[in-house]
Amino acid sequence: MFDFSGKVVIVTGGASGIGLCTARHMVSLGASVAVFDRQEASEESREYDSLVFFHTDVTQEDEVERNVSLVAEKWGRVDALVCSAGVTYPYKTVVESDLAGWERTVNINSRGVFFCNRAVFPIMEKQRSGSIVNIASVAAKTGGGLLGNAIYGASKAAVMSFSKGMAREGGPFGITVNVICPGVVDTPMSQGLTQESRNSLIAATPLGKFAEPVDIMNTIVFLCSDSARHITSVCLNVDGGFMHGN
Ligand SMILES: NC(=O)c1ccc[n+]([C@@H]2O[C@H](COP(=O)([O-])OP(=O)(O)OC[C@H]3O[C@@H](n4cnc5c(N)ncnc54)[C@H](O)[C@@H]3O)[C@@H](O)[C@H]2O)c1
Repeated sequence: MFDFSGKVVIVTGGASGIGLCTARHMVSLGASVAVFDRQEASEESREYDSLVFFHTDVTQEDEVERNVSLVAEKWGRVDALVCSAGVTYPYKTVVESDLAGWERTVNINSRGVFFCNRAVFPIMEKQRSGSIVNIASVAAKTGGGLLGNAIYGASKAAVMSFSKGMAREGGPFGITVNVICPGVVDTPMSQGLTQESRNSLIAATPLGKFAEPVDIMNTIVFLCSDSARHITSVCLNVDGGFMHGN
């Protein structure tokens, strides 16, 4: 059992799916949690005193900077950042894809991670501690093809490489930066998959099923905990074995 009493955690994309599951569980472990999302958190989440929603579009530099400062003013520190906000680019070939789709996907998935990681860095640097977990996807390693297309894969590959650079820069200050690459997870994001795609993806997964948000959340919590204090610059597949043999 992990103890996050006295810890302050920011979860982007915390109004849905993996982020929501993580935000709620972090609260139950004693953390004060700031949810950064552009959609309102559910009624149920508003019942937690130590879970505060900050309306944030992660692509907007000033909103991210302002809300990270508000969190630090409110609770005095930031111990962990979980970047789960993201969108997919529903399957289209590269030839069918357009600039607007590229910009939307890359802005949210890559630029959003850059803004949020950069905003917490000086606070964690001063504390000489902090954990950052950025959510990429196995699509970063396959060039898309599961939930999203090549552009989705590229936006997540950027997260992987960026996180390695962040880990190098954060190491001297006790800041760990790790990446989780989920396979398909049963969340609103994966609801658009056709039954045919679901069947073929499950058939290619040794464990024979998609992840639940809790499966990703458990790994996030571990990577944010003191138990993972010597783990940094890791990209961990949580995919039921989908990437076996690669
Ligand atoms: N579900 C999957 O199968 C799967 C697989 C691999 C990776 N991922 C990644 O995991 C992360 C979480 O996905 P999920 O399945 O929980 O999806 P989800 O759609 O349930 O949740 C994503 C959240 O991000 C928020 N968001 C989107 N754009 C935003 C923006 N500009 N600013 C702030 N918030 C924004 C949404 O409002 C939503 O609450 C994403 O980064 C996704 O790419 C998901």
